[in-house]
Amino acid sequence: MALTAIILAAGKGTRMKSSLPKVLHKIADKPIVEHIIETVESLDCNGINLVYGHGAEQLQAALSKHDLNWCLQADQLGTGHAVKQALPYVDDNDDVLILVGDAPLISADTLQLLIEQKQQCPLALLTVNMADPSGMGRIIRDDNGIVAIVEHKDATEQQRQINEINTGIMIMGGADLKRWLADLSNDNAQNEYYLTDVIAMAANEGKAIGSAQPFWDKEVEGINNRLQLATLERALQEKIAEGLMLEGVTLADPKRIDVRGELTLGMDVTIDVNAVLEGQVTLGDNVSIGPNCVLKNCHVAANTAIEAFSHIEDAVIGESCTIGPYARLRPGSVLENNAKIGNFVETKKAHIGEGSKVNHLSYIGDTDMGQKVNIGAGTITCNYDGVNKSKTTIGDGVFVGSNTSLVAPVTLGNLSSIGAGSTITKDVGDEDLAISRGKQRNISGWPRPVKKDN
Ligand code: UD1
Ligand code: CA
Repeated sequence: MALTAIILAAGKGTRMKSSLPKVLHKIADKPIVEHIIETVESLDCNGINLVYGHGAEQLQAALSKHDLNWCLQADQLGTGHAVKQALPYVDDNDDVLILVGDAPLISADTLQLLIEQKQQCPLALLTVNMADPSGMGRIIRDDNGIVAIVEHKDATEQQRQINEINTGIMIMGGADLKRWLADLSNDNAQNEYYLTDVIAMAANEGKAIGSAQPFWDKEVEGINNRLQLATLERALQEKIAEGLMLEGVTLADPKRIDVRGELTLGMDVTIDVNAVLEGQVTLGDNVSIGPNCVLKNCHVAANTAIEAFSHIEDAVIGESCTIGPYARLRPGSVLENNAKIGNFVETKKAHIGEGSKVNHLSYIGDTDMGQKVNIGAGTITCNYDGVNKSKTTIGDGVFVGSNTSLVAPVTLGNLSSIGAGSTITKDVGDEDLAISRGKQRNISGWPRPVKKDN
């Protein structure tokens, strides 16, 4: 049976108090609705229909990489009316999985449970029991099973005692859905077309109604305001942290790590507090990350230590390197094995050869550096003349004295040495010493200035 999904995301999201549509607010650096889209994509699904109402341009820009049918619901007349907007894309023979666009943590495993229910019943609902079900649609059961959903505002006092609620996620056949939606009325407390009315219609036709429950209650929690956004972010991060620890990662504090992307991990990785890991991050065996580091889209090979307060983006780092504390590796930084980048060093588009060291207070940009190079404190590659970027090439075994400016384009030959305090504007040959600084003059008996008295 082919599966089609409808994601309801036309609600205004007024309580976010934002110019951004609610479903584009982010959890783990990914829009709320994109979490749901990606989960649905992981199912074997024929089409994904997104019912939207506000911020079309923003939504389409943010979600452009996904293959979606865009279904405009110009006026938000209720969830039943919302689903109607997607019907042109629904085949009678489809199984139609309906989801809410503001509950980002729904899992594929839970949706599979619901899809399996559909193999036994024409209609199946995802329900949960809530200690405080206030505001939610209540699941009404009799001896034969589910017979209706009653919205909180339409419910009797007795019905409001029911703790089992409708999560808004359900599945049914395309032909049934179309037939039932055609009969909806808005004769209720909110004058809305309730999707939930189809449950009673199904029961009246004598159809069995199945139900499933999520593996984790947070999966069905919707986000309406920024407090709920933050609460769900923390819940997700704690869950990710638990997963990491069970995979064999040592976390100094599972409450103080943020993973905003995909992590690939070797054995015995250690992560200290306040790490932020974004995009695609790979950490090899025995990698250690010190406190307060940010790593974005980078590959760190085995036995490398990243010390406190380092910021690393779009970088490839070899084995047994040491980085930081307080290092900044910008995009295009590539470190070969055993390289060392020390405190207050910035690199960008820089290839640092095996065993080379840039230990203190330097900027290395647009540079190709060989092996076993030693760069003294305060070395600057002057790669920018205000218009163009130029390259610095440093051979193997070069020694650069402290406080040196390398004015690119410039090449330092293998085993060359640069005297401290030099400004190097011309290429240096292999094994040469280059030195360019004012000659020291010593003036003997020089009278120090004294303070005038007045
Ligand atoms: C709905 C259910 C309720 C359930 C609750 C779970 C109905 C009538 N009620 O409540 O049983 O317990 O969800 O959260 O279905 N939306 C549209 N267009 C609309 C109205 C809503 O796209 O015209 C979307 C919203 O963006 C949201 C979802 O549908 O993603 C649910 O809408 P919301 O208003 O939050 O749900 P309720 O009607 O309160
Ligand atoms: Ca709601």
